[in-house]
Amino acid sequence: MSSDREVWDHWYRKAQAQGYRSRAAFKLTDIDDKRKVIRKGDRVLDAGCAPGSWCEVALQRVGPEGAVVGIDLQTVEWREAPPNLRLIEGDFLQASAESLLEGIESRRRGPTRFDVVLSDMMAFTTGSQGTDHHASASIVERLLATLPALLREGGNLVYKIFEGERSPELLQKTRDCFEKAKPYKPAASRGDSVEIFVVGHGFIPEAAPAMPPEPKRGPPAPGPGWGR
Ligand SMILES: C[S@@+](CC[C@H](N)C(=O)[O-])C[C@H]1O[C@@H](n2cnc3c(N)ncnc32)[C@H](O)[C@@H]1O
Repeated sequence: MSSDREVWDHWYRKAQAQGYRSRAAFKLTDIDDKRKVIRKGDRVLDAGCAPGSWCEVALQRVGPEGAVVGIDLQTVEWREAPPNLRLIEGDFLQASAESLLEGIESRRRGPTRFDVVLSDMMAFTTGSQGTDHHASASIVERLLATLPALLREGGNLVYKIFEGERSPELLQKTRDCFEKAKPYKPAASRGDSVEIFVVGHGFIPEAAPAMPPEPKRGPPAPGPGWGR
């Protein structure tokens, strides 16, 4: 295929033909086919799940014995959702671990946790590579710090990051708390996109990084009475 537009059209048509909600489905199928992240019976958390194609793929891969919890800032419409899918409308970065883990039963000894955490989260893109990278890096940094409460020891992780200056540091932080962590660019990810996925296998909870301080917000916008 010669242009990024043709590549986009190819995956879009393929998603329609196979009944997926978006072409993003093929990013996860590719990652999972190559890197073996999800197993039958797994409990999977899908952070930033709208419109829901990763949930569709995860449900196929975990089968009826597994469970999928999806959370997104946006509503995900799902007619006749299967009993092993739970959708939450909300901010993953503000959600409590208890609310995400509700209804999830552990098959192992120890605290109840997910077997796999997926994150395709990105609120919106500005078109500025630097701004988008820093927003994406901040999400990843916070995601890594939430893992001890969400992901079981030995569990797997997939996250998206928009590449930039902080990518090596975050890859290292991921390597520090996983037995193995490697970047992966799925075929369905546009060639001109700076997005890349990091796949971690074998979570080591005690090595996860601490939660960074809240990102700094600018001063409040001037209101009535300012400068009087
Ligand atoms: C690229 S889309 C995800 C596509 C999805 N993987 C699929 O296959 O359908 C990114 C999503 O991340 C969500 N998102 C970004 N920040 C979030 C947050 N803090 N909490 C929950 N969802 C978030 C956005 O609302 C958006 O729907």
